[in-house]
Amino acid sequence: MGSNTVSTLVTAIKSEPSGDDHLYPEASEEFVQTPYIREITERALAYLNAGCPVHFAGPAGTGKTTLAFHIAAQLRRPVMLIHGNHEFSSSDLIGKESGYRKNRLVDNFIHSVLREEEELKSLWVDNRLTTCCRNGDTLIYDEFNRSTAEANNVLLSILEEGILNLPGLRAMGEGYLEVNPNFKAIFTSNPQEYAGTHATQDALIDRMVTIKLDYPDRDTEVRVAVAKSGIAPEEAGCIVDIVADFRRLKNNKRIPTVRASIAIARILALKGEHACRGNAFFHRACLDVLCMYGTEESAAGQVTLSKRLEKLIARICPAEKKSPAA
Ligand SMILES: Nc1ncnc2c1ncn2[C@@H]1O[C@H](COP(=O)(O)OP(=O)(O)OP(=O)(O)O)[C@@H](O)[C@H]1O
Ligand SMILES: [Mg+2]
Repeated sequence: MGSNTVSTLVTAIKSEPSGDDHLYPEASEEFVQTPYIREITERALAYLNAGCPVHFAGPAGTGKTTLAFHIAAQLRRPVMLIHGNHEFSSSDLIGKESGYRKNRLVDNFIHSVLREEEELKSLWVDNRLTTCCRNGDTLIYDEFNRSTAEANNVLLSILEEGILNLPGLRAMGEGYLEVNPNFKAIFTSNPQEYAGTHATQDALIDRMVTIKLDYPDRDTEVRVAVAKSGIAPEEAGCIVDIVADFRRLKNNKRIPTVRASIAIARILALKGEHACRGNAFFHRACLDVLCMYGTEESAAGQVTLSKRLEKLIARICPAEKKSPAA
């Protein structure tokens, strides 16, 4: 992998000393392609190629960020990643003046005449959105509804008219930037009721095609758990079925996602334990990973969850094989 290449599964990026602020996503061995993933990918690419920005909306852990990277990788353009932040102002997205450069010209060519000229030029630094629009890169604006509507307003004319308004550069005659035709944008958002999110503006949503994501199908979730842990597919199947059952609990405070399946699978794989009925470590790990997903966190609530889990394991998982020595 070259500098700033990221697997399409990685979302945390460190900036490179080279100063190149772009990402070059690459497919990772852990990335799972199933008919479900392929169908969404094809749909999203069709929309993007038709000039429509794509927006993945859905609850936590439904694969929004992973899909955004995967689709951006198919476009084979440098990628700019922005994470929504409630402290953003539009200048954090487009850039701002970074001071002034002073030029002083002293002309004493004719020694009896001294001409002095001074010029003050304001300096401007592009931020990621402006660089992206200038170069025609692919923008991934992850969890864009964590930024305020005021900060995101700058996107309206970019997405509709292909014009980026740069009021800070007006004095230099560059108040508007024509967006490069290669520019494409992929957004993700979490539901409005999630902590730290803002209501999305209708005008902005109206300029995108929103693909609503739900929890992936069983096959995808099993294959993701296998790819990310190395556990056997049958064991991953048991884990995914347990997690899916907890997902259906009524009045859940929190809903377990594929991350819970991955966590249990990884813990078992690393310990050399198995998703089997009677495997005490497995029972305990499931309870620890899933205990926060109950309707109540009281001791009584935990006992109910634990009983539910025991019944589920008894129904879903095969009995542990006894070693010949035992
Ligand atoms: N196709 C896939 N192949 C392999 N792993 C995947 C795939 N899709 C999702 N995952 C894994 O599932 C987990 C959740 O995915 P992701 O982070 O993309 O979800 P999200 O919807 O962006 O969640 P959040 O709203 O919490 O940010 C991650 O660990 C991710 O690596
Ligand atoms: Mg995400």
